[in-house]
Amino acid sequence: MSTPAELRTALADRLAGDGVLTEPGWESAARAVPRELFVGRYFAPVAGSVPTAYRPVREGEPGWLEGIYSDETLVTQLDGRIRPDDVAGEAATGIPSSSSTLPSVVLRMWQQLGVEAGHRVLEVGTGTGYSTALGAHRLGDADLTSVEYDPVVGAAAAAALKAAGFSPRLVIGDGLRGDPEGGRYDRLIATCSVRYVPLPWLHQVRPGGRILVTLSGWSYANALALLEVTGPGEATGRFLADQSSFMIARPHDRPPRPTLDLLPGEERGTGLDPAVLDGRTGGWVAQLAVPGAIRTGVGERQILWDLATGSQARTAPGPDGGWAVTQRGPVRLWDRVERALRCWQAAGAPPQDGFGLTVSAAGQRVWLGAEAGPGWDLPI
Ligand SMILES: C[S@@+](CC[C@H](N)C(=O)[O-])C[C@H]1O[C@@H](n2cnc3c(N)ncnc32)[C@H](O)[C@@H]1O
Repeated sequence: MSTPAELRTALADRLAGDGVLTEPGWESAARAVPRELFVGRYFAPVAGSVPTAYRPVREGEPGWLEGIYSDETLVTQLDGRIRPDDVAGEAATGIPSSSSTLPSVVLRMWQQLGVEAGHRVLEVGTGTGYSTALGAHRLGDADLTSVEYDPVVGAAAAAALKAAGFSPRLVIGDGLRGDPEGGRYDRLIATCSVRYVPLPWLHQVRPGGRILVTLSGWSYANALALLEVTGPGEATGRFLADQSSFMIARPHDRPPRPTLDLLPGEERGTGLDPAVLDGRTGGWVAQLAVPGAIRTGVGERQILWDLATGSQARTAPGPDGGWAVTQRGPVRLWDRVERALRCWQAAGAPPQDGFGLTVSAAGQRVWLGAEAGPGWDLPI
């Protein structure tokens, strides 16, 4: 049986071989930080379960340590309260609310942030503390602060960081408000996603500083933005090609809602294949077009539901080929989605790195191609 150190070395070798680890300082961090101290017990998804059921995996059981040193996200909490120890039976269902993100994504993000010696860094979303420990190993404790929303999760991370010999400043609170006591930062990295860039961040990071954050939404489509703060309350930058699907910051998550009843509406044909919405960028563009809507369904049968107005749109195969869409309510959801997707397709359907984001006093706008290009306002 392999030891933790052997498994850690094997994972770091793999990440270096795959080109994830490009900077020696971050490679040393990956080789040094014991992920098992931070993750402990975790949930493994039960293959084929719908909705996904999660089985607790405990220390010492077969596969536990190999799971810790796999390049996988390990869920550690469901529904904001259920931890592996709370599961009495075989498995539990719920929405993941805290996790240790897969090491390749965390390490790639730390490198993309472009942190230099002496920079003050704010991390939002401590989670298990694993990414915080990587940061503390590379940057030292003194210049790193991490904020966690959930006090139980934050306390576990604090204990793990101490056990691993790190002591960055830890704050329990809503990281979307920044770190009011923390002064100016050079870099901000978020390991939870947001629907829009929280304005306090744009005052807390100094002009010329950077923010790395995943932009998400109520349909859970994602894109990773690297922004430069251009002045107080202002920032601009582009989205990166890498996939990063972080859980959405708790205050930005979908509100509770009643069960969806599909109701009759106006019907028309559409020449746009609804399955485009299943693609990574297609789904993201649709989310930009109707940010207040959630999307369910798959392939030719998509359903959009705007939570504020109750507007609905649903697609189905048409009677004579093509597709039919039924829309009701004050917001014609499919009309907006179709327009946005046509615009994106006309530009050659680029992936996420074909887009950018500008934040100013006028609002927050995701643009396609160049800042003066077509764009969509984020729901601030
Ligand atoms: C994907 S996990 C973080 C992964 C973590 N960095 C790691 O390596 O283990 C996301 C975390 O963000 C936290 N979170 C959600 N909303 C937050 C907010 N508004 N402020 C601070 N933390 C938040 C969640 O409680 C969760 O622990």
